[in-house]
Amino acid sequence: MSTDEPAAAWLAGLAREAARPAGQAFAAANIALCKYWGKRDEALNLPVTSSLSVSLGELGTRTVVTVGEHADAIRLNGEDVPPEAGFARRASRFLDLVRPAAGIGYRVDTRNALPTGAGLASSASGFAALALALDHLYGWELDARRLSILARLGSGSASRSIEAGFVEWHAGTRPDGLDSFAEALPEQWPELRIGLLTVSAQQKAVSSREAMQRTRLTSALYPAWPAKAQADLELLRRAIRARDFELLGRTAESNALAMHATSLAAQPPVLYWLPQTIVHMHDVWGLREQGTPVHFTIDAGANLKLLFLARDAGVVAARFPGVRVVAPFA
Ligand code: PMV
Repeated sequence: MSTDEPAAAWLAGLAREAARPAGQAFAAANIALCKYWGKRDEALNLPVTSSLSVSLGELGTRTVVTVGEHADAIRLNGEDVPPEAGFARRASRFLDLVRPAAGIGYRVDTRNALPTGAGLASSASGFAALALALDHLYGWELDARRLSILARLGSGSASRSIEAGFVEWHAGTRPDGLDSFAEALPEQWPELRIGLLTVSAQQKAVSSREAMQRTRLTSALYPAWPAKAQADLELLRRAIRARDFELLGRTAESNALAMHATSLAAQPPVLYWLPQTIVHMHDVWGLREQGTPVHFTIDAGANLKLLFLARDAGVVAARFPGVRVVAPFA
């Protein structure tokens, strides 16, 4: 626990008397256009590089938290989660950060609009919603930076789900992580659309935590990643400022492929794609060749997220009948 100490210093100063009977919150999921891939500190979820995401509008997690009995009781989508399950253990470890004393439990009721653990960013919205719900329960009224830091301690990508729209997570350099938080960019892009193309809603076999650590430690391609991420981040910022969709899509797609390439070269290798993932990639490239500007990104899972503009929604839906379309700035 020693590396948790500095992060816990400000947390320790927060009130532990509930301000209301229940804390509730919603947080939108987010999709990284420039990925977070590799930690410089495993305990604090401090990233090697900065990253940039866009939120998924109404798709996310709704959470209610109350102070309960002696042990934590976690419900996910209306079902009790056994305390020994990985999901409950992760939630309880996070709750330890704010627990007033050992032997005090929380009741957490959480609902995900997206499948859990399938590379659809449910841990991002999950820990962000839990951080926001705790803030509501205790009446802390933390600012977005502190909330982002708290959410980050649950899951790195959750730091980017406190705010909506385009969000940049600054990697920071401090060992205690107090400069590693996410901030919303001022730009909006009302015509931007994200299409969720679900290939598999199954839990992934290798967690993103495990995959990124294995990749950082064993992949001969990982040393090239920080420079690639830095260059892509700058291109994405420029694309967003100029509303240059081609630059945005091309950069996000290339960034995702580079991330997956680093994991393929890990030992043992990590390959999240299924045959259908690759079929869809070719479909996207085919549509592009026919003149429709559509690009994809893929997180730690088999599912694709398509990036396109509102005016092409018809063409995209015709080519991908199962696609679920989100308008992040609607
Ligand atoms: O926050 P985690 O531990 O679930 O890691 C997320 C990693 C990716 O989704 C693959 C990339 C990202 O930036 O969200």
